Amino acid sequence: MYILLKDIAKYLDKEVTLRGWIFNFRSSGSIFFLQFRDGTDFIQAIVSKKEVSDKIWKDCQKITIETSVEISGKVSKHPKKDEYELQAKDLKIIQAADGYPIGKKEHGPEFLLDQRHLWLRSSKQWAIQRVRNTIINATFDYFNQNGFIKIDTPILTPTSCEGTTTLFEVPYFDLGKAYLSQTGQLYLEAAIFSFGRCFDFGPTFRAEKSKTRRHLTEFWMMDAEAAFVNHEGSMKIQEELICYIVKKVLEKDRKELEILERDVSKLEKIKAPFGRMTYGEAIKKVQTLGSDIKDGDDLGADDETLLTQDSDAPIFVEKWPKKIKAFYMKRDPENSGLVLGSDLIAPEGHGEIIGGSEREDDYEVLLARIKEEKLLLADFQWYLDLRKYGSVPHAGFGYGLERITGWVCGVHHIRETIPFPRMINRLRP
Ligand code: 4AD
Ligand code: MG
Repeated sequence: MYILLKDIAKYLDKEVTLRGWIFNFRSSGSIFFLQFRDGTDFIQAIVSKKEVSDKIWKDCQKITIETSVEISGKVSKHPKKDEYELQAKDLKIIQAADGYPIGKKEHGPEFLLDQRHLWLRSSKQWAIQRVRNTIINATFDYFNQNGFIKIDTPILTPTSCEGTTTLFEVPYFDLGKAYLSQTGQLYLEAAIFSFGRCFDFGPTFRAEKSKTRRHLTEFWMMDAEAAFVNHEGSMKIQEELICYIVKKVLEKDRKELEILERDVSKLEKIKAPFGRMTYGEAIKKVQTLGSDIKDGDDLGADDETLLTQDSDAPIFVEKWPKKIKAFYMKRDPENSGLVLGSDLIAPEGHGEIIGGSEREDDYEVLLARIKEEKLLLADFQWYLDLRKYGSVPHAGFGYGLERITGWVCGVHHIRETIPFPRMINRLRP
């Protein structure tokens, strides 16, 4: 009977057949130890010369790394570890792999990225993508449980949402140019007037010339938006969502976190409410800690690391100077030079994982901001309409899936958290 390794516990002492790949092997005279995986888990299969036919024993000699096989045998418990093993009786080679390029020796990151189509098979990459999948599902669960409707926002857009400097242009028939979306936010804002609470989830694109460990040119963003929620309420939702995600990963992905050698005690300490500070306080704090940042500058990666160095949970930095934030953020009623926006900064040096704000809901103020930023008014007429026909206070935020996955997995560079990373200098495979 064909089974999947994830169900192996049900088959102790039973005969089963597995289909998958050999990712490592060794032999000691009359025994072969085959490290096997089927996509759902890993197992060691043991082939003893005296238990199998000559043909099977000969086939074992032909096995190479990444050879695909079908193996049958009896499921047993490992004598020492809390693991299952397979006492193989039969083995069929499906295809003998020829010279698999990724070996046991250390490879450099560029080599591995060139081999990304194969590198995805390694146990660490397997673990990261599984955690990513849990984060995606936890996000959908959280929003479904909290009355948010999934709205699919467009990828081809006529305008910028987050500033014009990082747009990818696409020729667009007789209409001239289109741009790949940087965020679905503006469209979600339109949707909340129909549905109240919405979220989207999709690829977003930024032609950022940043070659840092936190930047991709194509990444997955979840935007959420809610009517009658203010800046404060939005931060509450963000906290709850992040705690829910971390809880789900801790529940479902213990094995993955172990493969990644993630210090789970750090994740277990993630509890709401998260720490908060204003932008002004953050600047003072990092200056005291040795940063040469000036008031009015955006926080750099090192500043973000300094800020959270003595915090287990992520920290909100709120009330930013309007000059360094997007045009749509609502001004702070107590200081018109500031906006009611926040960045959520993950601990352990993983940096900003969420950006959010209350939105400017006043027609005249928003119009003035659009003009101030020298944006083309015609492009934003529809967005201004939302402030003309039943405007309400509203707020929202967007997370970067790769940043969150990188933090939860404890992975240094986010290029490992997306199956096929796109960066300034990488478009293949
Ligand atoms: O902070 P950002 O630019 O916010 C927005 O786009 C808002 N419109 C979201 C909203 O309010 N609905 O981007 C959101 C998040 C960042 O916090 C970061 O996690 C991630 O997207 N991000 C990137 N991730 C990988 N590579 C990049 N180049 C990224 N740029 C932003
Ligand atoms: Mg941001």
